[in-house]
Amino acid sequence: MATLTLISHSILVLSLLFTFADAGSIGINYGRVANDLPSPSKVVELLKSQGIDRVKLYDTDSGVLTALANSNISVVVALPNELLSSVAADQSFADNWVQANISQYYPNTKIEAIAVGNEVFVDPKNTTKFLVPAMKNIQTSLAKNNLNSSIKLSSPVALSALQSSYPSSSGSFKTELIEPVIKPMLDFLRQTGSYLMVNAYPFFAYVDNSNSISLEYALFKTNPGTVDSGNGLRYTSLFDAQLDAVFAAMNALGYNDVKVVVSETGWPSKGDEKETGASQANAAAYNGNLVRRVLTGGGTPLRPQDPLNVYLFALFNENQKTGPTSERNYGLFYPTEEKVYDIPLTTAELNGDQSTMANGSKAQVAPAPAGEVSSSSVGQTWCVANVNAGEEKLQTALDYACGEGGADCRPIQEGATCYSPNTLEAHASYAFNSYYQKKTRGAGSCDFGGAAYVVTQPPMRVPYRLLNWKDEGEFGYLVKVQY
Ligand SMILES: *[C@@H]1O[C@H](CO)[C@@H](O)[C@H](O)[C@H]1NC(C)=O
Ligand SMILES: *[C@@H]1O[C@H](CO)[C@@H](O)[C@H](O)[C@H]1NC(C)=O
Ligand SMILES: *[C@@H]1O[C@H](CO)[C@@H](O)[C@H](O)[C@H]1NC(C)=O
Ligand SMILES: *[C@@H]1O[C@H](CO)[C@@H](O)[C@H](O)[C@H]1NC(C)=O
Ligand SMILES: *[C@@H]1O[C@H](CO)[C@@H](O)[C@H](O)[C@H]1NC(C)=O
Repeated sequence: MATLTLISHSILVLSLLFTFADAGSIGINYGRVANDLPSPSKVVELLKSQGIDRVKLYDTDSGVLTALANSNISVVVALPNELLSSVAADQSFADNWVQANISQYYPNTKIEAIAVGNEVFVDPKNTTKFLVPAMKNIQTSLAKNNLNSSIKLSSPVALSALQSSYPSSSGSFKTELIEPVIKPMLDFLRQTGSYLMVNAYPFFAYVDNSNSISLEYALFKTNPGTVDSGNGLRYTSLFDAQLDAVFAAMNALGYNDVKVVVSETGWPSKGDEKETGASQANAAAYNGNLVRRVLTGGGTPLRPQDPLNVYLFALFNENQKTGPTSERNYGLFYPTEEKVYDIPLTTAELNGDQSTMANGSKAQVAPAPAGEVSSSSVGQTWCVANVNAGEEKLQTALDYACGEGGADCRPIQEGATCYSPNTLEAHASYAFNSYYQKKTRGAGSCDFGGAAYVVTQPPMRVPYRLLNWKDEGEFGYLVKVQY
């Protein structure tokens, strides 16, 4: 009887703790502002050979959509900004566009969403007022073709839509956009079960503030992070901080339930002299660490349960893009299909490849001996406590990890090596990580009902009070480590 009670108790505790944090998805933007790219059919072969099964386009080019037919690659197409006013003004124009550019290809070409416009609020022609009416007309056209439940509508917004983004908890949309377009658009996304598309570039913030933002923070590398003074959450990457600023802005308007997809993010492999940080090694680190982050599951500190769905920018270097050198050097591939740098892009590559470097790229190094956890940061992820989960949840999860979970909690007992700092957060992080490593970092083994999340950098080992923190300027940062 006692045994039975214990078993059912364990099952209860397990099902309470393990609401699995799903892995997110990686897609890639297939931009074509170039005169030297491979044919669309060659590109589809390239995508398949790399295991990339989601792609985002900037138009509805018939050659590309035809080449993607029957490839089982999910496609986001785009309705260009230039068409917004016509689509908004005229339902039959919208009907014809959907007929000629969507229904003709679907379902052979797996179109899953239409990006209606791109960064519309910063369009020099100011097409903002046409956006939501255009989305509604396209939705009506889709419904006429019975495609409205298969194909989602959204519109990628740039981070410049935010009035405030630091600290993340203060995130808010620009006042002049809220009533005219943000609220109507978020209402529309909610009603249609769609999501907001966000283009987020930590690179831009880094270039403008490289004296105050650490490169480690921008590239998901080892860094102590910064604590958001508004919500007490610790951020160890600029990407997370940027996304949470968007979530905070949405929450402030009551749209906590609307999901977000990162429709563009990337890092250039080359730049002009003043584009600090643009380099092959940094691009490999940013994109490689981001992919690992996304595929190992979990979300941002503010929405730890929401998997990250991300489209990298971009597939190719695009030689006809204007602007600084970086603009032509975001590609993961040269037009020759040769890799600009080598990073894992799929879960299979991540799992099968213990030699993934901390700089994000892959390298030939000996795997750690079986049964031994490598002490270096090669190919590693760690599990840490989510302070936002609250004391009670953390304590329950800590008790579970050290008890039935079988984590090695001896080092955090009083008098042992890792007892200090004696805080719930530090002890929970230790125990969660021990459990996570013991489960060989398997899917769902770092969640504990939202009390934990995966990081791509080793957790801090230096007691926080030894560090000299500075939270100011556009972003918080660590100025100096003092021992
Ligand atoms: C949409 O379809 C029309 C009609 O086929 C075509 O003329 C137009 O180029 C297409 N639009 C885009 C952006 O490809
Ligand atoms: C198509 O892709 C989906 C995932 O997007 C996968 O579940 C399915 O097995 C694939 N089908 C084929 C025929 O490869
Ligand atoms: C864009 O148009 C809206 C009205 O449609 C106006 O309120 C806003 O000031 C314009 N923005 C710019 C930057 O011109
Ligand atoms: C699609 O349109 C039909 C008819 O207008 C409507 O009943 C249905 O709720 C719509 N589905 C979605 C997911 O919007
Ligand atoms: C990543 O680091 C490894 C080992 O230090 C090095 O061989 C490789 O060139 C680096 N990759 C990049 C893109 O810098």
